[in-house]
Amino acid sequence: MPTETSNLSATQMPSAPVLAASDICVRYGGVEAVAGASLTIPTPQVVGLIGPNGAGKSSLLAAIGGQSRAASGRVTFDGEDVTQLPPHQRARRGILRTFQTASVFDGLTVFENLLVAGLGDQGSRLRGALLRTPALHARERATAARAARVLEEFEISHIADHYGRELSGGQRRLVEIARCLMRSPKLLLLDEPMVGVAPHLVERIGEHCRAICERSVAILIVEHSMEVIGSICDRVVVMASGEVIDDGSFASVMKGESVREAYLA
Ligand SMILES: Nc1ncnc2c1ncn2[C@@H]1O[C@H](COP(=O)(O)OP(=O)(O)OP(=O)(O)O)[C@@H](O)[C@H]1O
Ligand SMILES: [Mg+2]
Repeated sequence: MPTETSNLSATQMPSAPVLAASDICVRYGGVEAVAGASLTIPTPQVVGLIGPNGAGKSSLLAAIGGQSRAASGRVTFDGEDVTQLPPHQRARRGILRTFQTASVFDGLTVFENLLVAGLGDQGSRLRGALLRTPALHARERATAARAARVLEEFEISHIADHYGRELSGGQRRLVEIARCLMRSPKLLLLDEPMVGVAPHLVERIGEHCRAICERSVAILIVEHSMEVIGSICDRVVVMASGEVIDDGSFASVMKGESVREAYLA
């Protein structure tokens, strides 16, 4: 007797949501930073995460990325329960995160920053490094070619040889996102990527977000500028006091009472 799903062709099969975070609680000692927040990203889209200072946005990102272990709740990614996995294992599955303060290696050039991200832990394995195996050489060549492509796409090839410490705030942000792209993300968690960025670069980072999403990469972006959120997001999730208080299109969220109340509180 065929089951209900066995009659569906592969294209009709309902696919697992990219991300389902349910009932997430994050605590720091006595502080409940996230208090039972749930969020689903069904298909790759750009989702804005907004809310007043201290609402729990970065903490929710940390629970999804694995930098903070949720005290309770579940994170499912691509159909797999990743709640107990450390950040590097989530990254291998495609969850990559940038931080509120851009993290770029100051002592490496932009190109090297991308190479290190692309090679990951495999680039530093002792045996391969000592023996300089052909496989490692081939991998390095492929990673270098990929880094060159990403630099070109981000229009930052001209600063490939600049050291991290020489970059402007906006360039650091671009390099940080470019580093994530070197690791084939399926979900990018961007925590205020426009902070300290000159207006013309804000627009470019927004355009890159849209272009990245069109390649089936979901993006969850924390951003305080409503102009930016309105221009790049397919959907907006609102947090206040550790809870999700609204979720919908930019227009519907902006019309809702909850946002006004949260920001006035
Ligand atoms: N490492 C920590 N230790 C203790 N409390 C923390 C820690 N990180 C965050 N908090 C607290 O948890 C709550 C949520 O913080 P979180 O940084 O997640 O908010 P946010 O929405 O990202 O705020 P912002 O918009 O200012 O970045 C706040 O009350 C904050 O003070
Ligand atoms: Mg934050």
